[in-house]
Amino acid sequence: WKTLDDMDLSGKVVLTRVDINVPVQDGRVTDDTRITRILPTIRDILAKGGKPVLIAHFDRPKGKVVPEMSLKVTLPALEAALGQPVGFAAEDFGTAIAAMAPGEVLLLENIRFFPGEEKNDPGFAADLAGLGDIYCNDAFSAAHRAHASTEALAHLLPACAGRLMEAELRALEAALGKPERPVVAVVGGAKVSTKLDLLSNLIEKVDRLVIGGGMANTFLAAQGLNVGTSLCEHDLADTARAIMDKAKAKGCEIILPEDVVVAERFAAGADHVTVAADAVPEGGMILDAGPATVARIIAAFDTARTLIWNGPLGAFEIAPFDTATIAAARAAADLTAAGRLVSVAGGGDTVAALNHAGAADRFTYVSTAGGAFLEWMEGKTLPGVAALEQAG
Ligand code: 3PG
Repeated sequence: WKTLDDMDLSGKVVLTRVDINVPVQDGRVTDDTRITRILPTIRDILAKGGKPVLIAHFDRPKGKVVPEMSLKVTLPALEAALGQPVGFAAEDFGTAIAAMAPGEVLLLENIRFFPGEEKNDPGFAADLAGLGDIYCNDAFSAAHRAHASTEALAHLLPACAGRLMEAELRALEAALGKPERPVVAVVGGAKVSTKLDLLSNLIEKVDRLVIGGGMANTFLAAQGLNVGTSLCEHDLADTARAIMDKAKAKGCEIILPEDVVVAERFAAGADHVTVAADAVPEGGMILDAGPATVARIIAAFDTARTLIWNGPLGAFEIAPFDTATIAAARAAADLTAAGRLVSVAGGGDTVAALNHAGAADRFTYVSTAGGAFLEWMEGKTLPGVAALEQAG
């Protein structure tokens, strides 16, 4: 794929797909990470004399105009981050683009208001392409969607990756493409069922796989251990055993909790005890990994050269069940800061968990992507990335 360095942008309208699908509360953006991460691309296009026209989605309006899902809500945060006014085109995009002066930035209304976007409709894509001269895709976190603005446009205009897309792809390549070994992966979160493909793929690629969070309980139960009232997918016991067998055959060591923090209920300050994983009391609920497990995880980090992390190790939203996640995240951050580990993290809750631990900014790379990060780790082809590759 090409980058902005390969393109002559002078005087050109650059249709720039970004992902500013950011959390909003009471009409205000509450986390502007995705906005700040697209700034290098916007600034580069401006510096090269191009006219950045930002195409983005917000939420899931399903092809209809839903006023509460207008992208206008992101404008103040975008302007503040960029340090200059940003134009907004609610409709008649062509007229708004034609009126752009050099140095101006324009944001188009939620592209998912149009039914052709998610259908990847060729006619809609052609109309979009007619609005610009060059296509720049900077939305790695939407690259798992084959939509008009994430996929089709790359086939219709000279296409390149933006700076964030470049950074995401390089970091992921470093973590799972040709990583320095040993590689350790952390997969946490609630359910095995949502991460089956992920586990299967990682087992083939990594040397050690730490399984944490609620999904670890399914593995413990599959080994015949009592998990009390813990979150557990008992019907996936066979699947869990098959994953463990496959890991063994592939030479991937699976690290499961050997001690756990148990409470009677999931509530702040609930009474809790640490017990061996094979000594969970009836009525006990596993909410975090214990200190012996954390020590083993940190030892695995210590001997690894590359870490890839998706999902918290415990119920990190409520103290003290955030203890394992915090300790492991900080250890990974310290090893990274010392130059001993390449650490890449991403997906849903993960960034929130690492931020909570105060560790995210010392990781080598933290992806802005949720679903796209997972699909990439599952070894799936992301249509948005594939289209850029095909565009050459
Ligand atoms: C995300 O928030 O992960 C991306 O913006 C993709 O959003 P979607 O899941 O609605 O396609």
